[in-house]
Amino acid sequence: MFYHNDHLPGLNSQLPLKAKLAEVHELIQTDLPFVARISMAVYDSDTGMLKTFLESNDKGHIVSSLANHEAPIKQSTSLVKMMEEGIPRVINSLCKLPEIKLEQTKKVIKAGYVSSYTKPVYKHGEFVGFLFFNSKHENVFDKHALRQLDVFGHMLSLMIFSELSMIKTMTAAMKSSNRLTSLRDPETGEHLERMSRYSRLIASGLADKYQLSDEYIECIFMFSPLHDIGKIGIPDQILMKPGKLDEEEMALMKTHSTLGRKIVDEIIDDFNLSKIHNIDIVRHIVEFHHETLDGSGYPKGLTGEQIPLEAKIVAVADIFDALTSQRPYKEAWSNEKAFELLRDLAGKKLDQDCVDILLANTEAIRRIQQQFSDAETEVLDS
Ligand SMILES: [Fe+2]
Ligand SMILES: [Fe+2]
Repeated sequence: MFYHNDHLPGLNSQLPLKAKLAEVHELIQTDLPFVARISMAVYDSDTGMLKTFLESNDKGHIVSSLANHEAPIKQSTSLVKMMEEGIPRVINSLCKLPEIKLEQTKKVIKAGYVSSYTKPVYKHGEFVGFLFFNSKHENVFDKHALRQLDVFGHMLSLMIFSELSMIKTMTAAMKSSNRLTSLRDPETGEHLERMSRYSRLIASGLADKYQLSDEYIECIFMFSPLHDIGKIGIPDQILMKPGKLDEEEMALMKTHSTLGRKIVDEIIDDFNLSKIHNIDIVRHIVEFHHETLDGSGYPKGLTGEQIPLEAKIVAVADIFDALTSQRPYKEAWSNEKAFELLRDLAGKKLDQDCVDILLANTEAIRRIQQQFSDAETEVLDS
């Protein structure tokens, strides 16, 4: 009898997904040293977009030039073919491709990678994304290598999807509570669609400066619609009051952020989700999205650096959408007028970087507004 060392001890632990991928990458390299980069892109079937999600490269950078990217899958006939037919693809020399359409492929080449092995990933028969293996050498993905990468590929997908499904359980549990709130809330479902996209836009723009990973940005997108989950505990006559709230009513309304935090903590406990890396993002968004830099916000009156970045991001996205939407007590403001107010509040109440990034993306804002407009739903509802 003998004892054998586990080569992947990190997978038994509570490491973030990125660290687990790095450990598997290292093991792959003991046999296949030429595999210089492994990355995963996830597919959003609602929008047809393929988004970078996770990456491990030789340099071990948190954010590489290849992160934080999304593109419609339709831009590449070869990716669409792989998705539909489930057949992996080997490109032994990226430079010899007749035409390169995808911006991301150009960046991969620029980063020094010359060959690739791409594997479509499915869960219960449904396409969920691609695993990419890149090398800085040509003609290295031979039969022997592919056999090993197939096994590792399956393992990596399982690892990634068990984490993703935990997050999905979490959002599903919370969404049902959230739906109960939104049924009574004058804020529409479109508000949540728009503000979560503004939040992602801001987070993406901050990625370089704050070294934000794709995983973090995706969590901001998934968790931001839950910001007002605590309104479930606010009585109808306050939540649905057509006019302005008086002082006492306002004080009660303000309890929604502390209440929301309690609900989120309970859901995390009940569904045993505390092991999800980044789970604190949702706690912070729910509890602190009404805090302001100068300490005049609620519930804790936190100032500047005390406010978690995710709460600062969501605050700007939420306020911008509230201003530009119609509410029972006010007309919708034009984007320009809302920009002016945000510019005024930046650095005093709202984070300067978050405001700057939102204001620098007027085209993206307009696209989001067109795609999720309140007017359209009203027509559909009537
Ligand atoms: Fe709120
Ligand atoms: Fe909101």
